[in-house]
Amino acid sequence: MQSAKSIEQEARERAGDVSKEELLLIRKAEENHALTEPELTALLGSDAAEEALAAAADRVRKAYVGDGVHLRGLIEFSSICRQNCMYCGLRRDNAKAERYRLDADTIVDLARKAKGYGYPTVVLQSGEDLFFDTEKICGILHRIKALDLAITLSIGERSRAEYAAFREAGADRYLLRIETTDVPLYERMDPGMRWSNRDRCLRDLRELGYEVGTGTLVGLPGQTIPMIARDILYYQKMDADMIGVGPFIPNPDTPIGEEPAGSFHLTRRLVSLLRLLLPEANIPATTAMETMVAMGREIVLSSGANVVMPNVTEGDYRRKYALYPGKICVADTPADCRHCMGGRIAAMGRYVAADKGFRHHHRGIAQAAKHGLGKECEHA
Ligand code: SAM
Ligand code: SF4
Ligand code: FES
Repeated sequence: MQSAKSIEQEARERAGDVSKEELLLIRKAEENHALTEPELTALLGSDAAEEALAAAADRVRKAYVGDGVHLRGLIEFSSICRQNCMYCGLRRDNAKAERYRLDADTIVDLARKAKGYGYPTVVLQSGEDLFFDTEKICGILHRIKALDLAITLSIGERSRAEYAAFREAGADRYLLRIETTDVPLYERMDPGMRWSNRDRCLRDLRELGYEVGTGTLVGLPGQTIPMIARDILYYQKMDADMIGVGPFIPNPDTPIGEEPAGSFHLTRRLVSLLRLLLPEANIPATTAMETMVAMGREIVLSSGANVVMPNVTEGDYRRKYALYPGKICVADTPADCRHCMGGRIAAMGRYVAADKGFRHHHRGIAQAAKHGLGKECEHA
Protein backbone atom coordinates (compact mmCIF):
# COMPACT_ATOMS: atom_id res chain seq x y z
CA MET A 1 0.00 0.00 0.00
CA GLN A 2 1.36 3.42 -0.94
CA SER A 3 1.27 6.18 1.69
CA ALA A 4 -0.99 9.21 1.26
CA LYS A 5 1.97 11.56 1.56
CA SER A 6 3.88 10.08 -1.32
CA ILE A 7 0.72 10.02 -3.47
CA GLU A 8 0.10 13.70 -2.85
CA GLN A 9 3.77 14.57 -3.30
CA GLU A 10 3.83 12.67 -6.58
CA ALA A 11 0.69 14.43 -7.77
CA ARG A 12 2.09 17.86 -6.86
CA GLU A 13 5.28 17.14 -8.76
CA ARG A 14 3.32 16.16 -11.85
CA ALA A 15 0.96 19.14 -11.55
CA GLY A 16 3.69 21.54 -12.69
CA ASP A 17 3.45 20.10 -16.20
CA VAL A 18 -0.25 20.68 -16.81
CA SER A 19 -0.70 22.25 -20.25
CA LYS A 20 -2.72 25.32 -21.16
CA GLU A 21 -4.99 23.15 -23.32
CA GLU A 22 -5.71 20.89 -20.36
CA LEU A 23 -6.47 23.84 -18.11
CA LEU A 24 -8.89 25.16 -20.73
CA LEU A 25 -10.64 21.80 -20.92
CA ILE A 26 -10.95 21.66 -17.14
CA ARG A 27 -12.42 25.16 -17.08
CA LYS A 28 -14.89 24.17 -19.80
CA ALA A 29 -15.94 21.12 -17.79
CA GLU A 30 -16.32 23.18 -14.62
CA GLU A 31 -18.51 25.76 -16.35
CA ASN A 32 -20.52 23.68 -18.82
CA HIS A 33 -20.42 20.17 -17.32
CA ALA A 34 -19.83 18.76 -20.79
CA LEU A 35 -16.83 17.29 -22.60
CA THR A 36 -16.49 15.13 -25.70
CA GLU A 37 -15.07 11.61 -25.72
CA PRO A 38 -11.63 12.76 -27.03
CA GLU A 39 -11.52 15.53 -24.41
CA LEU A 40 -12.38 13.09 -21.62
CA THR A 41 -9.76 10.67 -22.94
CA ALA A 42 -7.12 13.39 -22.91
CA LEU A 43 -7.80 14.36 -19.27
CA LEU A 44 -8.21 10.80 -18.01
CA GLY A 45 -4.83 9.97 -19.51
CA SER A 46 -2.99 12.97 -18.12
CA ASP A 47 -1.03 12.58 -14.88
CA ALA A 48 -0.18 16.27 -15.09
CA ALA A 49 -3.84 17.34 -15.04
CA GLU A 50 -4.72 15.36 -11.89
CA GLU A 51 -4.36 18.10 -9.26
CA ALA A 52 -6.11 20.77 -11.33
CA LEU A 53 -8.94 18.33 -12.07
CA ALA A 54 -9.31 17.46 -8.38
CA ALA A 55 -9.38 21.14 -7.39
CA ALA A 56 -12.07 21.93 -9.98
CA ALA A 57 -14.11 18.89 -8.92
CA ASP A 58 -13.82 19.93 -5.28
CA ARG A 59 -15.23 23.39 -6.11
CA VAL A 60 -18.14 21.85 -8.07
CA ARG A 61 -18.79 19.37 -5.25
CA LYS A 62 -18.99 22.22 -2.75
CA ALA A 63 -21.28 24.30 -4.98
CA TYR A 64 -23.69 21.50 -5.86
CA VAL A 65 -23.79 19.08 -2.94
CA GLY A 66 -22.10 21.06 -0.16
CA ASP A 67 -19.68 20.00 2.57
CA GLY A 68 -21.84 17.22 4.06
CA VAL A 69 -20.50 13.68 3.70
CA HIS A 70 -23.22 11.04 3.60
CA LEU A 71 -22.45 7.87 5.53
CA ARG A 72 -24.30 4.77 4.41
CA GLY A 73 -23.98 1.64 6.56
CA LEU A 74 -22.98 -1.35 4.43
CA ILE A 75 -24.42 -4.76 5.38
CA GLU A 76 -22.76 -7.63 3.47
CA PHE A 77 -25.43 -10.24 4.07
CA SER A 78 -24.46 -13.16 1.83
CA SER A 79 -21.18 -14.24 0.21
CA ILE A 80 -22.93 -16.86 -1.93
CA CYS A 81 -23.04 -16.09 -5.65
CA ARG A 82 -24.37 -17.85 -8.73
CA GLN A 83 -22.23 -15.71 -11.07
CA ASN A 84 -18.63 -16.22 -12.08
CA CYS A 85 -17.15 -12.76 -12.63
CA MET A 86 -13.47 -13.18 -13.47
CA TYR A 87 -12.31 -10.52 -10.99
CA CYS A 88 -14.35 -11.33 -7.89
CA GLY A 89 -13.47 -13.55 -4.94
CA LEU A 90 -17.13 -14.45 -4.45
CA ARG A 91 -17.39 -16.03 -7.94
CA ARG A 92 -19.09 -19.42 -7.80
CA ASP A 93 -16.03 -21.42 -8.94
CA ASN A 94 -13.84 -20.08 -6.15
CA ALA A 95 -13.69 -23.11 -3.89
CA LYS A 96 -11.52 -21.21 -1.41
CA ALA A 97 -14.19 -18.61 -0.67
CA GLU A 98 -15.75 -19.01 2.77
CA ARG A 99 -19.47 -18.79 2.23
CA TYR A 100 -22.05 -17.45 4.66
CA ARG A 101 -25.59 -16.22 4.60
CA LEU A 102 -27.06 -14.10 7.40
CA ASP A 103 -30.64 -14.79 8.47
CA ALA A 104 -33.36 -12.16 8.27
CA ASP A 105 -33.33 -11.40 12.00
CA THR A 106 -29.57 -10.79 11.98
CA ILE A 107 -29.84 -8.50 8.92
CA VAL A 108 -32.61 -6.44 10.53
CA ASP A 109 -30.64 -6.33 13.77
CA LEU A 110 -27.58 -4.95 11.93
CA ALA A 111 -29.82 -2.31 10.33
CA ARG A 112 -31.15 -1.36 13.77
CA LYS A 113 -27.58 -1.02 15.06
CA ALA A 114 -26.66 1.04 11.98
CA LYS A 115 -29.43 3.45 12.89
CA GLY A 116 -28.04 3.52 16.42
CA TYR A 117 -24.64 4.62 15.05
CA GLY A 118 -26.40 7.48 13.32
CA TYR A 119 -26.48 6.13 9.75
CA PRO A 120 -29.67 7.33 8.02
CA THR A 121 -29.22 4.80 5.18
CA VAL A 122 -28.26 1.13 4.94
CA VAL A 123 -26.91 -0.63 1.86
CA LEU A 124 -27.87 -4.31 1.66
CA GLN A 125 -25.26 -6.02 -0.49
CA SER A 126 -24.62 -9.66 -1.44
CA GLY A 127 -23.55 -12.04 -4.14
CA GLU A 128 -26.32 -13.10 -6.49
CA ASP A 129 -27.87 -15.47 -3.94
CA LEU A 130 -31.28 -16.67 -5.10
CA PHE A 131 -32.03 -18.17 -1.67
CA PHE A 132 -33.10 -14.59 -1.00
CA ASP A 133 -36.17 -14.73 -3.23
CA THR A 134 -38.65 -11.90 -3.69
CA GLU A 135 -40.63 -12.83 -0.61
CA LYS A 136 -37.58 -12.98 1.69
CA ILE A 137 -36.10 -9.71 0.40
CA CYS A 138 -39.47 -7.94 0.65
CA GLY A 139 -39.96 -9.21 4.22
CA ILE A 140 -36.54 -7.79 5.20
CA LEU A 141 -37.26 -4.50 3.41
CA HIS A 142 -40.60 -4.06 5.24
CA ARG A 143 -38.93 -4.63 8.60
CA ILE A 144 -36.04 -2.24 7.91
CA LYS A 145 -38.35 0.39 6.48
CA ALA A 146 -40.26 0.37 9.77
CA LEU A 147 -37.02 1.64 11.37
CA ASP A 148 -37.22 4.80 9.22
CA LEU A 149 -34.04 4.12 7.30
CA ALA A 150 -33.44 4.76 3.60
CA ILE A 151 -32.54 1.48 1.89
CA THR A 152 -30.14 0.79 -0.96
CA LEU A 153 -30.17 -2.69 -2.46
CA SER A 154 -27.14 -4.14 -4.25
CA ILE A 155 -27.93 -7.77 -4.98
CA GLY A 156 -27.27 -8.00 -8.71
CA GLU A 157 -29.44 -8.76 -11.71
CA ARG A 158 -33.10 -9.60 -11.16
CA SER A 159 -36.28 -9.39 -13.24
CA ARG A 160 -38.26 -6.19 -13.63
CA ALA A 161 -41.09 -7.75 -11.62
CA GLU A 162 -38.73 -8.43 -8.71
CA TYR A 163 -37.32 -4.90 -8.84
CA ALA A 164 -40.90 -3.60 -8.80
CA ALA A 165 -41.73 -5.71 -5.74
CA PHE A 166 -38.58 -4.52 -3.90
CA ARG A 167 -39.43 -0.91 -4.68
CA GLU A 168 -42.97 -1.44 -3.42
CA ALA A 169 -41.60 -3.00 -0.22
CA GLY A 170 -39.46 0.06 0.53
CA ALA A 171 -36.16 -0.04 -1.42
CA ASP A 172 -35.21 3.54 -2.32
CA ARG A 173 -32.00 3.03 -4.26
CA TYR A 174 -30.24 0.30 -6.21
CA LEU A 175 -26.52 -0.09 -6.87
CA LEU A 176 -25.53 -2.07 -9.93
CA ARG A 177 -22.23 -1.19 -11.52
CA ILE A 178 -22.17 -1.58 -15.27
CA GLU A 179 -18.43 -2.30 -14.65
CA THR A 180 -17.58 -1.32 -18.26
CA THR A 181 -19.66 -0.09 -21.18
CA ASP A 182 -17.47 -2.04 -23.59
CA VAL A 183 -19.68 -5.00 -24.46
CA PRO A 184 -16.97 -7.53 -25.51
CA LEU A 185 -14.86 -6.67 -22.44
CA TYR A 186 -17.89 -6.98 -20.14
CA GLU A 187 -18.82 -10.35 -21.59
CA ARG A 188 -15.22 -11.63 -21.28
CA MET A 189 -15.03 -10.51 -17.66
CA ASP A 190 -18.52 -11.71 -16.70
CA PRO A 191 -18.88 -15.07 -18.44
CA GLY A 192 -22.47 -16.17 -18.88
CA MET A 193 -23.78 -12.66 -18.34
CA ARG A 194 -25.04 -10.31 -21.05
CA TRP A 195 -24.21 -6.61 -21.11
CA SER A 196 -27.64 -5.93 -22.61
CA ASN A 197 -29.28 -7.49 -19.55
CA ARG A 198 -27.25 -5.33 -17.15
CA ASP A 199 -28.25 -2.26 -19.16
CA ARG A 200 -31.88 -3.48 -19.09
CA CYS A 201 -31.70 -3.79 -15.30
CA LEU A 202 -30.52 -0.18 -14.98
CA ARG A 203 -33.28 1.06 -17.28
CA ASP A 204 -35.94 -0.91 -15.37
CA LEU A 205 -34.67 0.45 -12.06
CA ARG A 206 -34.82 3.99 -13.39
CA GLU A 207 -38.36 3.53 -14.71
CA LEU A 208 -39.48 2.04 -11.40
CA GLY A 209 -38.47 5.21 -9.56
CA TYR A 210 -35.32 4.05 -7.82
CA GLU A 211 -32.35 6.31 -7.32
CA VAL A 212 -29.97 4.45 -9.58
CA GLY A 213 -26.32 3.88 -8.76
CA THR A 214 -23.82 2.38 -11.16
CA GLY A 215 -20.09 2.61 -11.86
CA THR A 216 -16.87 1.38 -13.42
CA LEU A 217 -14.32 -1.18 -12.34
CA VAL A 218 -11.09 0.55 -13.35
CA GLY A 219 -8.18 -1.47 -14.70
CA LEU A 220 -9.88 -4.59 -16.01
CA PRO A 221 -7.45 -6.42 -18.29
CA GLY A 222 -7.97 -5.07 -21.84
CA GLN A 223 -9.81 -1.92 -20.70
CA THR A 224 -8.63 1.28 -22.41
CA ILE A 225 -8.91 4.95 -21.47
CA PRO A 226 -11.36 5.74 -24.32
CA MET A 227 -13.60 2.95 -22.94
CA ILE A 228 -13.63 4.73 -19.56
CA ALA A 229 -14.39 8.03 -21.31
CA ARG A 230 -17.42 6.33 -22.89
CA ASP A 231 -18.47 5.04 -19.44
CA ILE A 232 -18.68 8.67 -18.25
CA LEU A 233 -20.84 9.62 -21.24
CA TYR A 234 -23.09 6.61 -20.55
CA TYR A 235 -23.61 7.76 -16.92
CA GLN A 236 -24.33 11.25 -18.12
CA LYS A 237 -26.84 10.01 -20.69
CA MET A 238 -28.70 7.87 -18.15
CA ASP A 239 -28.46 10.73 -15.61
CA ALA A 240 -27.14 8.36 -12.92
CA ASP A 241 -27.97 9.39 -9.35
CA MET A 242 -24.91 7.67 -7.86
CA ILE A 243 -21.65 6.56 -9.44
CA GLY A 244 -19.24 4.37 -7.51
CA VAL A 245 -15.89 3.63 -9.12
CA GLY A 246 -12.93 1.69 -7.80
CA PRO A 247 -9.69 0.14 -9.01
CA PHE A 248 -9.59 -3.55 -9.86
CA ILE A 249 -7.63 -5.34 -7.11
CA PRO A 250 -6.36 -8.75 -8.25
CA ASN A 251 -7.53 -11.69 -6.19
CA PRO A 252 -5.16 -14.69 -6.47
CA ASP A 253 -8.11 -17.08 -6.15
CA THR A 254 -9.59 -15.86 -9.45
CA PRO A 255 -8.58 -16.49 -13.09
CA ILE A 256 -7.22 -12.92 -13.47
CA GLY A 257 -5.43 -12.88 -10.12
CA GLU A 258 -2.02 -12.37 -11.77
CA GLU A 259 -3.06 -9.27 -13.74
CA PRO A 260 -1.90 -5.82 -12.59
CA ALA A 261 -4.14 -3.78 -10.30
CA GLY A 262 -6.08 -0.79 -11.60
CA SER A 263 -4.50 2.63 -11.13
CA PHE A 264 -5.36 4.73 -8.09
CA HIS A 265 -4.50 7.90 -10.02
CA LEU A 266 -6.62 7.06 -13.05
CA THR A 267 -9.52 6.24 -10.72
CA ARG A 268 -9.05 9.54 -8.89
CA ARG A 269 -9.14 11.45 -12.20
CA LEU A 270 -12.28 9.51 -13.11
CA VAL A 271 -13.95 10.56 -9.83
CA SER A 272 -13.06 14.20 -10.55
CA LEU A 273 -14.40 14.06 -14.10
CA LEU A 274 -17.60 12.39 -12.88
CA ARG A 275 -18.16 15.27 -10.46
CA LEU A 276 -17.51 17.81 -13.22
CA LEU A 277 -19.87 16.15 -15.68
CA LEU A 278 -22.57 14.98 -13.24
CA PRO A 279 -22.40 17.74 -10.63
CA GLU A 280 -25.46 16.64 -8.61
CA ALA A 281 -24.57 12.95 -8.35
CA ASN A 282 -23.74 11.15 -5.14
CA ILE A 283 -20.20 9.82 -5.56
CA PRO A 284 -18.63 7.55 -2.94
CA ALA A 285 -15.00 7.40 -1.87
CA THR A 286 -14.83 3.62 -2.18
CA THR A 287 -13.22 1.06 0.10
CA ALA A 288 -11.06 -0.22 -2.79
CA MET A 289 -9.38 3.22 -3.04
CA GLU A 290 -8.33 3.04 0.59
CA THR A 291 -7.25 -0.57 0.19
CA MET A 292 -4.69 0.70 -2.36
CA VAL A 293 -3.55 3.87 -0.61
CA ALA A 294 -3.59 4.87 3.07
CA MET A 295 -6.07 7.73 3.54
CA GLY A 296 -7.32 7.05 0.03
CA ARG A 297 -10.83 8.04 1.06
CA GLU A 298 -9.72 11.49 2.20
CA ILE A 299 -7.93 12.00 -1.11
CA VAL A 300 -11.04 11.00 -3.05
CA LEU A 301 -13.35 13.09 -0.81
CA SER A 302 -11.15 16.08 -1.73
CA SER A 303 -11.34 15.20 -5.43
CA GLY A 304 -15.12 15.31 -5.94
CA ALA A 305 -16.65 12.57 -3.76
CA ASN A 306 -19.31 13.14 -1.08
CA VAL A 307 -20.30 9.67 0.23
CA VAL A 308 -18.62 6.94 2.31
CA MET A 309 -20.06 3.49 2.95
CA PRO A 310 -18.62 2.23 6.25
CA ASN A 311 -19.06 -1.45 6.93
CA VAL A 312 -21.63 -2.40 9.57
CA THR A 313 -21.25 -6.16 9.08
CA GLU A 314 -19.98 -7.73 12.31
CA GLY A 315 -17.25 -10.20 13.28
CA ASP A 316 -15.70 -12.71 10.93
CA TYR A 317 -18.25 -12.09 8.17
CA ARG A 318 -16.30 -8.95 7.23
CA ARG A 319 -13.27 -11.08 6.38
CA LYS A 320 -15.34 -13.71 4.59
CA TYR A 321 -16.90 -11.18 2.22
CA ALA A 322 -13.60 -11.28 0.37
CA LEU A 323 -13.87 -9.72 -3.09
CA TYR A 324 -10.13 -9.01 -3.07
CA PRO A 325 -7.22 -9.32 -0.63
CA GLY A 326 -6.18 -6.58 1.77
CA LYS A 327 -9.71 -5.32 2.43
CA ILE A 328 -9.65 -2.61 5.10
CA CYS A 329 -11.40 -2.71 8.48
CA VAL A 330 -11.74 -6.52 8.67
CA ALA A 331 -10.56 -6.50 12.30
CA ASP A 332 -12.57 -3.41 13.27
CA THR A 333 -16.05 -3.21 14.74
CA PRO A 334 -18.89 -1.12 13.24
CA ALA A 335 -18.47 1.29 16.18
CA ASP A 336 -14.74 1.67 15.35
CA CYS A 337 -15.57 2.53 11.73
CA ARG A 338 -18.23 5.06 12.70
CA HIS A 339 -15.90 6.77 15.13
CA CYS A 340 -12.99 6.64 12.68
CA MET A 341 -14.91 8.12 9.73
CA GLY A 342 -16.58 10.79 11.86
CA GLY A 343 -13.17 11.99 13.08
CA ARG A 344 -11.56 11.88 9.66
CA ILE A 345 -14.39 13.82 8.02
CA ALA A 346 -14.28 16.49 10.74
CA ALA A 347 -10.48 16.72 10.36
CA MET A 348 -11.03 17.63 6.70
CA GLY A 349 -13.29 20.54 7.67
CA ARG A 350 -16.33 18.67 6.36
CA TYR A 351 -19.25 17.28 8.38
CA VAL A 352 -21.33 14.11 8.55
CA ALA A 353 -24.68 14.87 6.89
CA ALA A 354 -27.68 14.07 9.05
CA ASP A 355 -30.25 13.55 6.27
CA LYS A 356 -30.91 10.43 4.18
CA GLY A 357 -28.81 11.79 1.33
CA PHE A 358 -31.25 11.68 -1.56
CA ARG A 359 -30.02 13.33 -4.69
CA HIS A 360 -30.51 17.07 -4.83
CA HIS A 361 -32.20 18.03 -8.08
CA HIS A 362 -31.07 21.60 -8.15
CA ARG A 363 -28.51 23.75 -9.80
CA GLY A 364 -26.40 24.16 -6.70
CA ILE A 365 -26.07 27.00 -4.27
CA ALA A 366 -23.30 28.77 -6.19
CA GLN A 367 -24.82 27.92 -9.56
CA ALA A 368 -28.23 29.19 -8.47
CA ALA A 369 -26.66 32.46 -7.36
CA LYS A 370 -24.74 32.69 -10.63
CA HIS A 371 -27.96 32.22 -12.56
CA GLY A 372 -29.78 34.80 -10.43
CA LEU A 373 -32.21 32.25 -9.02
CA GLY A 374 -31.58 33.62 -5.55
CA LYS A 375 -32.63 30.60 -3.52
CA GLU A 376 -31.01 27.67 -1.87
CA CYS A 377 -31.28 24.04 -2.87
CA GLU A 378 -34.53 22.16 -2.88
CA HIS A 379 -35.21 18.46 -2.76
CA ALA A 380 -37.13 17.15 -5.72
N1 SAM B 1 -23.20 -9.09 -6.67
C1 SAM B 1 -23.58 -7.73 -6.85
C2 SAM B 1 -23.06 -7.18 -8.15
O1 SAM B 1 -22.15 -7.77 -8.72
O2 SAM B 1 -23.58 -6.15 -8.58
C3 SAM B 1 -23.13 -6.84 -5.71
C4 SAM B 1 -21.88 -7.22 -4.99
S1 SAM B 1 -20.39 -7.11 -5.95
C5 SAM B 1 -19.25 -7.88 -4.89
C6 SAM B 1 -20.00 -5.37 -5.80
C7 SAM B 1 -18.88 -4.84 -6.67
O3 SAM B 1 -17.63 -5.35 -6.23
C8 SAM B 1 -18.91 -5.20 -8.12
O4 SAM B 1 -19.77 -4.36 -8.84
C9 SAM B 1 -17.44 -5.06 -8.54
O5 SAM B 1 -17.21 -3.85 -9.28
C10 SAM B 1 -16.70 -5.00 -7.21
N2 SAM B 1 -15.57 -5.97 -7.20
C11 SAM B 1 -15.63 -7.31 -7.31
N3 SAM B 1 -14.39 -7.84 -7.35
C12 SAM B 1 -13.51 -6.82 -7.26
C13 SAM B 1 -12.08 -6.72 -7.28
N4 SAM B 1 -11.31 -7.80 -7.41
N5 SAM B 1 -11.52 -5.48 -7.17
C14 SAM B 1 -12.29 -4.38 -7.02
N6 SAM B 1 -13.65 -4.41 -7.01
C15 SAM B 1 -14.26 -5.60 -7.15
FE1 SF4 C 1 -21.10 -12.34 -7.79
FE2 SF4 C 1 -21.21 -9.64 -7.77
FE3 SF4 C 1 -18.88 -10.97 -7.36
FE4 SF4 C 1 -19.95 -11.00 -9.80
S1 SF4 C 1 -19.19 -9.16 -8.68
S2 SF4 C 1 -19.13 -12.80 -8.70
S3 SF4 C 1 -22.16 -11.03 -9.31
S4 SF4 C 1 -20.67 -10.98 -6.05
FE1 FES D 1 -13.16 1.17 9.54
FE2 FES D 1 -11.54 3.43 9.80
S1 FES D 1 -13.33 3.11 8.53
S2 FES D 1 -11.64 1.59 11.07
